[in-house]
Amino acid sequence: MKKHILVVDDSPDDREVIERKLQNMNGFVFPILVAADEKSCLDHISSDKHIDCVTLDYSLPGVDGLAVLKKILEIDPMIAVVMVTGNGDEHIAVEAMKIGAQDYLPKDRINSDSLQRAITNATERASMQKKIQDQQEELTIFANVLVHDLRAPLQTLTSAIGMLTEDLAPEVAWEHKKMLDCIVQGAERMDRLILALKSYTEQNSVHPVFETVDLNEQVEAARLNLSSDLKAAGASLYCDGSLPAIMGSPPQVMQVIQNILGNSIKYNRSGAPVVNITSLVKGDIRQIRITDNGIGISGKYMKRIFEPFKRLHRDDEFTGTGLGLATCKKIMDRHGGKIWCQSKPEKGTTFILEFPSL
Ligand SMILES: Nc1ncnc2c1ncn2[C@@H]1O[C@H](COP(=O)(O)OP(=O)(O)OP(=O)(O)O)[C@@H](O)[C@H]1O
Ligand SMILES: [Mg+2]
Repeated sequence: MKKHILVVDDSPDDREVIERKLQNMNGFVFPILVAADEKSCLDHISSDKHIDCVTLDYSLPGVDGLAVLKKILEIDPMIAVVMVTGNGDEHIAVEAMKIGAQDYLPKDRINSDSLQRAITNATERASMQKKIQDQQEELTIFANVLVHDLRAPLQTLTSAIGMLTEDLAPEVAWEHKKMLDCIVQGAERMDRLILALKSYTEQNSVHPVFETVDLNEQVEAARLNLSSDLKAAGASLYCDGSLPAIMGSPPQVMQVIQNILGNSIKYNRSGAPVVNITSLVKGDIRQIRITDNGIGISGKYMKRIFEPFKRLHRDDEFTGTGLGLATCKKIMDRHGGKIWCQSKPEKGTTFILEFPSL
């Protein structure tokens, strides 16, 4: 299949080399577009609807090639980019791939074969990503409709039972009321499960914007959201405000902290749950440790609790859907981080979150 290629390079000689190699590929490319600087590159991307692939020289005059790459992807997040790097610039190639380039090619290794291979790879990967994104969007729409359509009858059922309970004759009231309460509790449990499933699946489709996140602020936000649970459990939460900043999505990071804190309060029989949040900065890595004095977890389950629906207790012991930690794991994966725990039964649990460098 023929490709529309934009060659971005400030050196006329290098541009010509690439153009010549591209023209040698029989029937592989359409007339080639060229750009010698950032502005004309971005103009082409904004105006030309049909560019399949950009070969982007890393060292453009007066600009950082990675910054240009970011701007290209802001205009067209699905475009295929092959970063053309200098000799020994492997670290730049790695950075470019992290930002969203599909492939890279060192300048001194450019020949017709390598160029055709890189462009084919890049365009195939970009089109695969587009397909995945389209499918995820479709799934999100489907999930939203499903969530709406499943919750509506549950709400009707709950309110109808509420009215029925009020109208019950006093002599049958107690027995019947107990059964009706059971139905309402079942409906409420199902509603919580639907909402938890929604939040879990949303992590696949939401593309959060990453920014600098002050973890102290997110702990305070989670504390506020859980204030009534903390109060009801007589729990104390300590965090000395010295947590570091990380790169991430503030609402998602808050959700991770909130899910773990929620568990620390819930899985606790001490009568006075105590939760401590501390941090550790090791080189590039930032670790947050959340320690409770709860019921603890036996060694064989310490990995499995991060699987969806894995619960170690029946609902009448501790209520829950089994999706809280699976959601945390998904969010931490998306942040390029890790989550695990250390625990002993009856001796409390420490959840460790590890975020990569800023
Ligand atoms: N701090 C903790 N101490 C002891 N056990 C825990 C702790 N946190 C999690 N667990 C165990 O791990 C299981 C999974 O936790 P997870 O948060 O995923 O689900 P959940 O709390 O059951 O439901 P929800 O989806 O409402 O959070 C829990 O059912 C519990 O058995
Ligand atoms: Mg939970």
